[in-house]
Amino acid sequence: MDNRTNTIAGWALAGCTAALGLSIISGMYFHSERPEQMGYPIEGVEEAGGAAEEVPIATLLASADLAAGEASFAKCAACHTINQGGANGIGPNLWGVMGKSHGHIAGFAFSDALTSIPGNWDFQNMSDWLASPRRYAPGTKMTFAGLSNPQERANMIAWMNTQGSNLPLPAAPAPGEEEAAEGAEGEADAAANATEAEGNATDAASENTTAAE
Ligand code: HEC
Repeated sequence: MDNRTNTIAGWALAGCTAALGLSIISGMYFHSERPEQMGYPIEGVEEAGGAAEEVPIATLLASADLAAGEASFAKCAACHTINQGGANGIGPNLWGVMGKSHGHIAGFAFSDALTSIPGNWDFQNMSDWLASPRRYAPGTKMTFAGLSNPQERANMIAWMNTQGSNLPLPAAPAPGEEEAAEGAEGEADAAANATEAEGNATDAASENTTAAE
């Protein structure tokens, strides 16, 4: 009698162990989709960088997949052409948009929300824009939710850059490296990128600290 109780208890325990093991193993297999933002987003920090990216855009660009970027552009093609001299649709033609001002072509009725943003399109602000047009330019006419995957954005922007712009890619910052300037034209941008990348690194570090607590 006692023996049988033990056996039953033993099997029950074994069952629990197996279930636990299974959940750990399935966790290992089904965990490949990592959340875009690790740790808990801290209010305010996220807004500072537009999108608190784990990896600096320069690093993502360095390993960008142009073919994947071109394929992703299908998500934009309902509203945009990107061929040279292509027609404006619901959105403007995007040939050569990288390096141009916000609202880069005459003859398209851009929103003030977009054209009032100073500066030209670079790799960082294009990534922020595509992550969330509404957050980047509140009131924009581009009714597109955004691309949440940073690598997808990098792939797409790297490909868009080949369509009439060909800006030099920002040098991927080595940890602690600040001099990222390459080419006279990209110098200011690269410096700005390096500073932002540094900010992101700090953000990531503080997020990790938070997560570890
Ligand atoms: C539903 C239609 C629509 C979709 C989908 C869409 N856009 Fe747009 N896009 C617009 C409109 C409209 C504007 C003008 C926004 C404004 O004036 O506020 C715009 C503006 C832009 C601009 C700014 C152009 C400039 O001259 O400053 C870029 C860059 C851009 N879109 C890229 C993209 C990319 C890349 C995608 C796909 C990931 C995309 N858009 C998806 C409608 C769309």
